[in-house]
Amino acid sequence: MNRFHKKLQQLKGQNRLRTLNAAQGIDLTSNDYLGMRGSTELRSAAIEAIEQGIDLGAAGSRLLRGHTHHHESLESYAADHFGAEKSLYFATGFQANLAIFQALPSRHDTIIFDELVHASSREGIHNSPAHSIKVAHNDLNAFEDALNRAHENRRESAIIWIAVESVYSMDGDIAPLEDLQNLAQKFDAYLIIDEAHATGVWGENGAGFAASLPQNNVITLHTCGKAVGVAGGLVCASAEIIDTLINTARGFIYSTAPPPLQAYLTQKSLEILAGEDGNHRRAALQKNITHMNAKSQILPIIIGEDAHALNVAQKLQNQGYDVRAIRPPTVPEGTSRLRISLSSNLTIDVLDQFQTALTKAMENKIAA
Ligand SMILES: Cc1ncc(COP(=O)(O)O)c(C=O)c1O
Repeated sequence: MNRFHKKLQQLKGQNRLRTLNAAQGIDLTSNDYLGMRGSTELRSAAIEAIEQGIDLGAAGSRLLRGHTHHHESLESYAADHFGAEKSLYFATGFQANLAIFQALPSRHDTIIFDELVHASSREGIHNSPAHSIKVAHNDLNAFEDALNRAHENRRESAIIWIAVESVYSMDGDIAPLEDLQNLAQKFDAYLIIDEAHATGVWGENGAGFAASLPQNNVITLHTCGKAVGVAGGLVCASAEIIDTLINTARGFIYSTAPPPLQAYLTQKSLEILAGEDGNHRRAALQKNITHMNAKSQILPIIIGEDAHALNVAQKLQNQGYDVRAIRPPTVPEGTSRLRISLSSNLTIDVLDQFQTALTKAMENKIAA
């Protein structure tokens, strides 16, 4: 038996085999929280831009000919919108997180990170030369302890970085950002906030939770493939931090720039979301969040065992609901779950019907 076959068989035996399944049924899974990706507004903007001759590909690194006024315009709009001095656009949020953690912390620095930060941050932290400390989820005392430890051993000019999410991707709970910012200020640390699930959805005009914090020590990541409905990741920070990324982030330097069309549409979507249309979409989503008694648009239904989670998801899929089981290593062992994603497109009737179907599917988890 070859190595790959054996590995795949092992995953299958553990109910951990991942397969690709095309979208079908009522969307309770995607991150299109505000219905932007199929919106007539964005479609019209795309058609108009294509008719006017926008380039579909960038055909080069941003540092060479891949840089266009569409990228420049998006970055300047985003910096203004998210309250930062400067911003930088990456092809994906994953790439942006890698860049932040690979390029900014150095050998004698310490990165203190919440145990539930996304795989892209974990990957960046893993690849960073800095020492790292994992702390219990949203636990301010644990953050303070870790800061004290890092501070005691701190060399001159070493930097402490704190890495959190504003809305946690698999739990939907919200970080105590003001308290974290106070701690960061007290210890003269940088606060890196992944706003992936807040961008467009939360904060004034959809600018996220971090925009209202003092920005001098804050770095934010805004992903553009979720509520924004397009693709990419915008890092927002001081001009010095952004210029450092431009000069040292290998994934930025040695990679083809995101297509100008993508940059253009991302800006259009952010503009739409910042206006009246965005307010209506956020209000519709909020109504659904309140109806479902959820903390945010992400509603985790923790089931526990992988097989049970798969079974409940399958029953719901059979009834036309696109719900997926999320298993380790994406979530901690023993917490396999359904990650229900609410959106402004869902009606209260559909949510009520889904809740009835969910209760029934959960009643006898293992029976087919
Ligand atoms: C919290 C968080 N950060 C970063 C990312 C990566 O963003 P992207 O999908 O744009 O690569 C994701 C996507 O799943 C995420 O949930």
